[in-house]
Amino acid sequence: MINPLYKAADDRYENKMQYRRAGKSGLLLPEISLGLWHNFGDTAPLERSRDILLAAFDNGVTHFDLANNYGPSYGSAESTFGQVFAKDLKPYRDEMVISTKAGYDMWPGPYGIGGSRKYLFASLDQSLKRMNLDYVDIFYSHRYDAQTPLEETMQALVDIVRSGKTLYAGISNYPHDKAIEAYNYLQSRDVRCVLHQGKYNMFVRTAETEGILDCTAEAGSGYIAFSPLAQGLLTDRYFKGIPEGSRASKDRTLKSASITREVVENLKKLDAIAQRRGQSLAQMALSWVLKDQRVTSVIVGASSVDQLKDNLKAAGHSCFSDEELSQIEDILKLF
Ligand SMILES: NC(=O)c1ccc[n+]([C@@H]2O[C@H](COP(=O)([O-])OP(=O)(O)OC[C@H]3O[C@@H](n4cnc5c(N)ncnc54)[C@H](OP(=O)(O)O)[C@@H]3O)[C@@H](O)[C@H]2O)c1
Repeated sequence: MINPLYKAADDRYENKMQYRRAGKSGLLLPEISLGLWHNFGDTAPLERSRDILLAAFDNGVTHFDLANNYGPSYGSAESTFGQVFAKDLKPYRDEMVISTKAGYDMWPGPYGIGGSRKYLFASLDQSLKRMNLDYVDIFYSHRYDAQTPLEETMQALVDIVRSGKTLYAGISNYPHDKAIEAYNYLQSRDVRCVLHQGKYNMFVRTAETEGILDCTAEAGSGYIAFSPLAQGLLTDRYFKGIPEGSRASKDRTLKSASITREVVENLKKLDAIAQRRGQSLAQMALSWVLKDQRVTSVIVGASSVDQLKDNLKAAGHSCFSDEELSQIEDILKLF
């Protein structure tokens, strides 16, 4: 039975969260944002999803990241969010930054996937209905689509901004050269790309090595990192085997075979550094991504309020000594 009475914590902005500017825009985002890729679909208990969403908001998390096909099933994370929004969070709409995306497969046929104007417009209309919203704050092209002219995808974003259905436009998972083309196209139409969303964590460094962080900052855009915990690998989640219900136990996006005894031993070496810093491994992994000031925010997933609260303690602790950084690099070479 859902408790009908939600009132946001009065102290939600008091020293709980730090906020960073998205590039050269006026938009501030919490260092830690909440993503609804897993754990919020129609296979997850609604009450647990609601508890995590409201705990986030009570602790200064103002940014919620969605996409049309988050679930499972597709669309159901947006529906869950829409239910909680309508019942609990609606009075706080102007304190929230809500994003969604279109790009990967969503519905059958040629118009439910890719980067066409047809898909982006239809998908956002569907997302708004599911989320009970009049507009989103950020609408992303979820991936670069080589089959669609980049100009068509970018012009769709421009026109959606002009329509008022999104306040800002973003791109996600674009390769370096296409990201630069996208920034330039949007800028030429007076719409800055507010954020580039990409995978960035201790194990996946393409944002650094392929120059995405550099070109994004040069364009005046922010960078927002997804899967900063490598889907739970960079935590103590698998220190004692693979728990029932964990992401690895589902063997979909995180393969149980990747969690070998050697991997766990090396994770424990990282954990020892985290402990010396007074952090959990999860907190250190988030701080590590946030040490780069070009990163506006990290988007975490969480399957419980406890996980979320553990993660939120990373906010404001993104300084590392040179010695810590080099010890971390030495351990990462072992994976
Ligand atoms: N643009 C894109 O293409 C794209 C792609 C992927 C993700 N994203 C965005 O990024 C968000 C985050 O991605 P992600 O879920 O992969 O992020 P993540 O934070 O790397 O992984 C989240 C998982 O880690 C585990 N976890 C989290 N905190 C923990 C803690 N303190 N202790 C132990 N385990 C912990 C949980 O696993 P269990 O479920 O096992 O408990 C949780 O489901 C998504 O929700 C989405 O918004 C975007």
